[in-house]
Amino acid sequence: MDDKTMQGWLNCWEKKTIPWHHTDVHETIEKYYEILAASPTAKNKIFIPLCGKTVDIKYLVDRGNEVVGLEASEIAVRDFFTEQNIEYTSEDVPAVKGKLYRSSDKMIKIYCCDLFLFSAEVESGFSGIWDRGSMVALSPEARKRYFEIMKTLTYPGIGYLLEMPDRDPKNGPPFFVPFDDLERGFEQKCRVTKLFATEKLPPGLDGEKMPDLKGMVVFRLAFQ
Ligand SMILES: C[S@@+](CC[C@H](N)C(=O)[O-])C[C@H]1O[C@@H](n2cnc3c(N)ncnc32)[C@H](O)[C@@H]1O
Repeated sequence: MDDKTMQGWLNCWEKKTIPWHHTDVHETIEKYYEILAASPTAKNKIFIPLCGKTVDIKYLVDRGNEVVGLEASEIAVRDFFTEQNIEYTSEDVPAVKGKLYRSSDKMIKIYCCDLFLFSAEVESGFSGIWDRGSMVALSPEARKRYFEIMKTLTYPGIGYLLEMPDRDPKNGPPFFVPFDDLERGFEQKCRVTKLFATEKLPPGLDGEKMPDLKGMVVFRLAFQ
């Protein structure tokens, strides 16, 4: 990601201007939990790219899953552990030019780095991926690199949930990514199904400032 865009995100955290942050668990996680945690026997490991300090991490861990987040802002990562009252350690990870924050019980890992330095070589074996506010936050240019990275993490059977705003694809961020672009991005190896749509906008998305915004949609991506 270019330095200016990255600095923009880091500034948001410094100034505590984080309108996208929900204090409640996202309804998708509650409704479609079993898609992310599909294995009835093995421990599930769920990846949340561009995780901010989402409380979804805690919800998933409380249900016995391991969660791996990735977030560029160190403020966000530290705030997550502090606000959730979870003890943690941190160590440098040269491969991502960043740090790995880990809960003392080892159930939560958060890579504090640029997504574009991450790949399956750093960490893999995810049973599910929850993308809320990640792909849609990236410019169409950066999105191509998102696909490259996520392709290294997906395989037939992985559970993948993606939330998007329902709006004119020409506008953004946050961007709506048409089905065709999604499937092309994953080289036709994924089938996209719409799980639900809501006209209710999440906190932080201002319908007056974004008049083309009709609501939010959640998709399931199934890989062949
Ligand atoms: C729209 S917010 C969504 C946060 C979170 N998913 C949630 O639901 O609350 C996007 C987040 O991505 C982070 N971010 C943006 N670009 C990034 C990048 N290239 N690598 C890692 N994190 C990034 C920002 O700091 C911000 O916290």
